[in-house]
Amino acid sequence: MATLAELASQRTSLDDSAIDHLLRLTASWSLLSDLSFSDMLLMAKVDEPSSHGEPNFVVLGQMRPNNRSTLINDDLVGTTQRPDAWPLVRLAFESGNRIVGEVKVENIDDTVPVWCVPVRFNGRIVAIMARLQGPLRGPASLYEQAYLSIFERLCSMVADSTFPYREEDVAGPGLPRVGDGIILIDGRGRVEFATPNATNALHRLGIYAPSEGHTLRELGLKVRVVERSLEFAFPAMEEVDRGHDVAILFHCVPLLEHGLVTGVVVLLRDVSDLRQLNRLVLNKEAAVREVHHRVKNNLQTISSLLRLQARRSDEPETRIALGEAERRVRSIAVVHEVLSREPGEEVVFDEIVRSLVLLVEDTVLALHPVDIIVNGELGTLSTDLATPLAVALAELLTNAVEHAFADFGGDDNDHVGVVTLSLRQEGGNAIAEIRDNGRGLGEDFSLDVPTSLGLSIVRDIIRAQLHGTIEMSNVPFAKGGGTLVRVAVPMTARP
Ligand SMILES: Nc1ncnc2c1ncn2[C@@H]1O[C@H](COP(=O)(O)OP(=O)(O)O)[C@@H](O)[C@H]1O
Ligand SMILES: [Mg+2]
Repeated sequence: MATLAELASQRTSLDDSAIDHLLRLTASWSLLSDLSFSDMLLMAKVDEPSSHGEPNFVVLGQMRPNNRSTLINDDLVGTTQRPDAWPLVRLAFESGNRIVGEVKVENIDDTVPVWCVPVRFNGRIVAIMARLQGPLRGPASLYEQAYLSIFERLCSMVADSTFPYREEDVAGPGLPRVGDGIILIDGRGRVEFATPNATNALHRLGIYAPSEGHTLRELGLKVRVVERSLEFAFPAMEEVDRGHDVAILFHCVPLLEHGLVTGVVVLLRDVSDLRQLNRLVLNKEAAVREVHHRVKNNLQTISSLLRLQARRSDEPETRIALGEAERRVRSIAVVHEVLSREPGEEVVFDEIVRSLVLLVEDTVLALHPVDIIVNGELGTLSTDLATPLAVALAELLTNAVEHAFADFGGDDNDHVGVVTLSLRQEGGNAIAEIRDNGRGLGEDFSLDVPTSLGLSIVRDIIRAQLHGTIEMSNVPFAKGGGTLVRVAVPMTARP
């Protein structure tokens, strides 16, 4: 189904700013629909010649009331309507005035009351908002009358182009509904009336005195947005709390007449449950973050213990082995460090890569200077995949800086060692290429028979755990020489 913006730009001659205005109107007209217990239609003139010489109408929007059953079962959005079927809409377009009358609706035997309100924007009538009112059950109650009078004031604002407001943040999914409770404030800030649900909400905030005739401040309630909407004619929202458990959202809709604020409709919504839920979610997130933090700290403790032990050892072999173990533990800690900042099922792998590069530089670069360059990125990966992949990459990067340039080039001190890590996602795989411009792999090197621990770990992680592939090859001398390691792991891999 086409959106309002698509329909309007394809079928009408309305410009972008007028379409924006209509979008803002339909974003907040659920309020209008509920206040008037009516179905709403938004119609604009079609910008194509018609067979009868008069422009047809296209329905750009449709809204059903939440507090009444609808009169219109069909979805009319995008349909073309003949002007002779909607003479009052035509009249409203021609006269620029609100036209009130009756219209015959398909699946109802009787005619129903209809209001056709011109939607004015920049001095032009860009659309007609039609309101089709369903039968009222008996005479309108006091609240129904009050709702209808607010609706009428808002309709005048639509015709004066003061509603919808120019601000973007007027409406949205969080907008309280009419049924949640309404307080009508007069031009001097005093409560004109409060619906039963609004009174309940005030009780929840500890205000039991009758509110009519008093300002909210006199009642002991400080809601600055109400005063601000009165003063500046801006719609605004504020959450008012009582202790930890009660939270009521006040949504203020200023009413204007000839440019002056004559009152404010305050929609109230009890969001205490939502807030509690939010707090639970936040607590859980904090707990997960804390766990990662502790895991990271524990791993760091282990790596320091290994370092201490390495220092105490006289055997060079033992020192090296312990040093490597320390580095492996630290590469796992890197992942938990990132997760402790942003816990979740997924992790931004590129942050991990940055830390891994620092780690490798830190452990081996003292041997000889090497530039490590990272190209591309892997984006977010599942945490299950990120941890083993980080360990394998740390291993391969270490090998490159450690082995590729050992005794390389003899007296040729001009040779600058460069290790490039290229990352990308391709065809559902995470691809990592580690390339160096060093001495290359030895004659008898074979990845498939590694006796040394480092590559055994890498092979186990990439092939057995992550069901991926790894290839190691010499880069031809003409292409710069050195070693290329290519790792590909399915993004869906779970060890
Ligand atoms: N980028 C590289 N350039 C040259 N030789 C390499 C490279 N990567 C690995 N090798 C060779 O593969 C051997 C095995 O590596 P590895 O299993 O990590 O063990 P270790 O790093 O402990 O020697 C290394 O000793 C080295 O000879
Ligand atoms: Mg190694």
